[in-house]
Amino acid sequence: MNVSAKEKSLTYFNKHRKSKLAHNGYWRHDYKYILSAIKTIHPERLIDIGCGPGAFLQLVQDRFPEIQLNALDLSEEMVQETKERLADTAIITAGDAEKMPLDDSQYQCVTCNMSIHHYPHPQKAVNEMYRILINGGYVLLNDMDCITPIRCLANLLFPHLPGGDVKMYTRSEILSMLRKAGFTNIHYRKISPFSFLCSAEKKSYSSHPDR
Ligand SMILES: C[S@@+](CC[C@H](N)C(=O)[O-])C[C@H]1O[C@@H](n2cnc3c(N)ncnc32)[C@H](O)[C@@H]1O
Repeated sequence: MNVSAKEKSLTYFNKHRKSKLAHNGYWRHDYKYILSAIKTIHPERLIDIGCGPGAFLQLVQDRFPEIQLNALDLSEEMVQETKERLADTAIITAGDAEKMPLDDSQYQCVTCNMSIHHYPHPQKAVNEMYRILINGGYVLLNDMDCITPIRCLANLLFPHLPGGDVKMYTRSEILSMLRKAGFTNIHYRKISPFSFLCSAEKKSYSSHPDR
């Protein structure tokens, strides 16, 4: 049977809610960079897409208790774990990043950490991030980036892994998705040998011509 990447992600992450790796945050060493970017944005409402078990959101809550927190994840088990972890102080929704069950123009900041490489149609997810941001809001996108031979090898291995990993997107693919969605003021930087953090602003003066 040909199981889709999304079905694989759902099954895998539903099972791993209580794993130590999940509990601590999958790429915890990157969080300090994302937290300092949040500090400069100073959002009133933030949503974390592909939140996993909420390790990152818990740090955001500890550091910035004034921010209203929201999150979305495909896995109902991860959603439940995040709800419990944040003691029901945040609004956590089960759903697909590529078709978010969320209203337009709600958040000043969208974060998405180590999740986009699970999306088969990442442009749809980036368009959705744009849609749910208010004008002047920022997306902070964090994912894997490494030297080309390792990226190519990882991309060959991904379909054989159990977690529904789809593709380690290149810097130019990420930049192109953000531009196509309508984002401006895009800054991409490597934050470790294996990861990047990209920020981009929604600044629309009229509706985007592609949608
Ligand atoms: C590697 S974990 C990262 C979790 C968390 N962001 C962190 O940094 O620890 C990837 C997460 O993305 C979620 N995910 C995968 N595909 C998704 C989709 N299409 N929509 C929403 N979430 C998705 C998975 O359920 C999982 O919780």
